[in-house]
Amino acid sequence: MKISGSVRVPGDKSITHRVLLLAALTKGISHIGGALTSLDAQSSARVLRQLGAEVSPLRKGATVRVRGRGRFQKPERTLFCGNSGTTTRLLLGLLAAHRFSATLTGDASLRRRPMRRVTAPLAAMGARFTEQDGDGLPMTVRGGALRPLRYEMPVSSAQVKSAILLAGMAGGVEVSLREPNGRSRDHTERLLQAFGYPISERDGWLHLQPGGRLEPFDLQVPGDPSSAAFLVGAAVLAESGELRISGVGLNPTRTGFLGVLSRMGVRTTVENLVFHYGEPVGDLLVRPAGLMGTEVKASEIPGLIDEIPLLAILASRASGTTAFRQVGELRVKESDRLGLIAENLRSVGAEAEVVGDDLVVGGREAVPRGSVRTAGDHRLAMAFAVLGTLPGARIRIDDMACAAVSFPDFPATLRSIFRDPR
Ligand code: S3P
Repeated sequence: MKISGSVRVPGDKSITHRVLLLAALTKGISHIGGALTSLDAQSSARVLRQLGAEVSPLRKGATVRVRGRGRFQKPERTLFCGNSGTTTRLLLGLLAAHRFSATLTGDASLRRRPMRRVTAPLAAMGARFTEQDGDGLPMTVRGGALRPLRYEMPVSSAQVKSAILLAGMAGGVEVSLREPNGRSRDHTERLLQAFGYPISERDGWLHLQPGGRLEPFDLQVPGDPSSAAFLVGAAVLAESGELRISGVGLNPTRTGFLGVLSRMGVRTTVENLVFHYGEPVGDLLVRPAGLMGTEVKASEIPGLIDEIPLLAILASRASGTTAFRQVGELRVKESDRLGLIAENLRSVGAEAEVVGDDLVVGGREAVPRGSVRTAGDHRLAMAFAVLGTLPGARIRIDDMACAAVSFPDFPATLRSIFRDPR
């Protein structure tokens, strides 16, 4: 199969959540171009409306208009966060600084995900949390005046880090935190700095001081590198041609997968690099390549956490073995991603095992055939759809519709990059 053309991917999910939340907290009207309109983004928009912000409908190609009131208002009903961990955890940080109580819940996948990793530090700042059913949703938060915090995070997580930074920002108190292993995505830091909040880093500690000011803004969200990664993967597996993915966010805390791909033998090129609100954005060019196995070190994991399903399916086509070290965090994503990556790779005839917290994938040449169980996890569905583009592959995916959580037009976009549509 030959790939060709120039495509765009939907707006960055992480940045879309953050700018919606921040716009809703400013006093006035913000305009957000290129925002993601997927189910997860809709979850943020929906709960922000319940908290008193006006958010125009999220429609593909339309600029989103957000009118904030400067503070959130007590919601009348439970805030339903759908499948979105980012909506939930970042919002908990902001609600910690609001003097009312709010109850949050989500779909079955989100209700199972751990929340004490955010509520423990926020409780140390002074917020109160009542769980209904152990560590997870539903839960009620009651915020108020906050205390400063100095906190060593037990896991590297941009959601936890962001919840603490946003609590510090909204509560007007200083916070310092340290991540244990590697650097997670830093969009919150870049945005807060753009609003004048002093953020500094020393000896692995990140400090936020009060002093900035949220003002209404106009911003263009870059394409999501995590969505682009699936198209990059399909291009790598193709036989010939070249694919251009335009306007992709290239923040170095998100592009760890490109470094791993380069060790596996893939050459990608960046053109037309520009900066928007402190975020690098450019066109990514990629060509098919023969792949070699590699070792992905624990310190690299936070910078490519969402790309492991895709990297794992590519590893199953490489010569030699690929090991992903210390990827236990994958057990608490939208599904038990660690178990399901290995189970599904085996189910389509590849070699994969979980050894402790490591994922080890063996490379093979056999044509992949078999069934994939996604447990409603968008990234598993898209990763295995990419594997399904190999000539002769027959992969049945139990739920392709879940791709709409982050990449609504994924099946059509994937088809569009192949010269002979399949
Ligand atoms: C995200 C952080 C990551 C990532 C998720 C989005 C964010 O989660 O997996 O898709 O926008 O902050 P963790 O913070 O749980 O690692």
